[in-house]
Amino acid sequence: MNHKEKYYQQDLGQVWAHDAYGKYIDAQWSWIHWPFDNDFTRPNRSFYYTVENPVENKSIVEIGSAMGQGYQFLKNSRIIDTRDYTGIEVSDKGFSKSCERFPDANWVQADFTKYEFNRNYDYGYERHAIHHMPDPVEQIKKVLKHINISFCTTFVGCVEEGTISDLDKGFHNNGGKGLVYFDIISVSEIVDVALEEGFNHIRILYWGKQESISTNPNDGQYMDPELVGQRDYARYTVRFTKCPQLKTPLVYSVLAGKLGGLKRWLESPAGVIRVKNHVNQFRSKAENKKFINT
Ligand SMILES: C[S@@+](CC[C@H](N)C(=O)[O-])C[C@H]1O[C@@H](n2cnc3c(N)ncnc32)[C@H](O)[C@@H]1O
Repeated sequence: MNHKEKYYQQDLGQVWAHDAYGKYIDAQWSWIHWPFDNDFTRPNRSFYYTVENPVENKSIVEIGSAMGQGYQFLKNSRIIDTRDYTGIEVSDKGFSKSCERFPDANWVQADFTKYEFNRNYDYGYERHAIHHMPDPVEQIKKVLKHINISFCTTFVGCVEEGTISDLDKGFHNNGGKGLVYFDIISVSEIVDVALEEGFNHIRILYWGKQESISTNPNDGQYMDPELVGQRDYARYTVRFTKCPQLKTPLVYSVLAGKLGGLKRWLESPAGVIRVKNHVNQFRSKAENKKFINT
C-alpha cells in the first residue's frame, strides 16, 4: 500500500479527534497569520502590526478551522466583517464544536484534499493544516485559484529545495488515532504557483529554524533519519496578495520577533542570509513576469 492509500483508508474525522485535539480551543491568533493589511500597495515589514481599516462586505475562507478560534478572533476584532465566513474542517470534534460555539458561521465538514470549490472568496487563510495533507503545493494551488484578493499560509518548510510530502518518511501520530503528513513545503514552489495565479505582493515571514524532529517512529512526530538535515527546515508564514495598483511586484522577507528579528540573526546568520538571498531571486522572477493587471 502506498503512503496516500494509507492516509485515505483512515477515518480522518476521527484521526483529527484525538485526546489532545481539545487544545485548539485555546489557539492564539494574531494579524500576522491573516491575509489582511492596511495598504497592499506598500511592503509591510513589521512583525507587530494591527489592521485598522475595516474590511467590509468581503468573503473569507479558512482551511483547517479546528474549533473556530480563528473565526472568534476575527469576529472579536470588530474590524473584519465575518458575515460571509466559511470554515472547512475534517475533524469530527472541530466541526461539531465550531457549529455549537458559532452557529451563525458557515462550517463545512470535508477533507480539503477532496474538496471542490463552487465559488471564490476574497480572502483566505490556513495555519498548519495544509502542512498535514498530501500534495501540499497542489492544495495551495487549488485554494489560490479561488482567492480574489489575499491568502495567508503558515507551515513548516524549506526556502528552496523541493517539497517533501510522504507519510512513510514524515508523520504526526495523532495520539494513536492515525497518521497524518508532516510535510516540508518548498517556499520556492508555492511562490511559483502564486506568480502563475497573478499574485503580485508576496510577504515571506521567516520564524526561524524548526526545532529538531524525532527519528523514532514511535514518537508523536517522526522524520526518516535519511531526511533529517536534508533541508533548511524552518517555519514560514507566507501571504499572497493581488494588488491591481502595483506597478512593480512586491516580494520581500520579514523576520519574526523584536528588533527586526535580531534573535533570528543571532541564532543563524547563515540561515537568514540564505532566506534573504532566495527572496531576492523570487523578486527578480516576479519582476520578469508580466502581470495581466499591471
Ligand atoms: C495542527 S491543526 C491547526 C488548527 C488551526 N488551524 C490552528 O492553527 O490553531 C490542523 C487542523 O487542520 C485540520 N485538517 C487536517 N487535515 C485536514 C484535511 N485533509 N481536510 C480538512 N482539514 C484538515 C485538522 O483537523 C486540524 O483542525
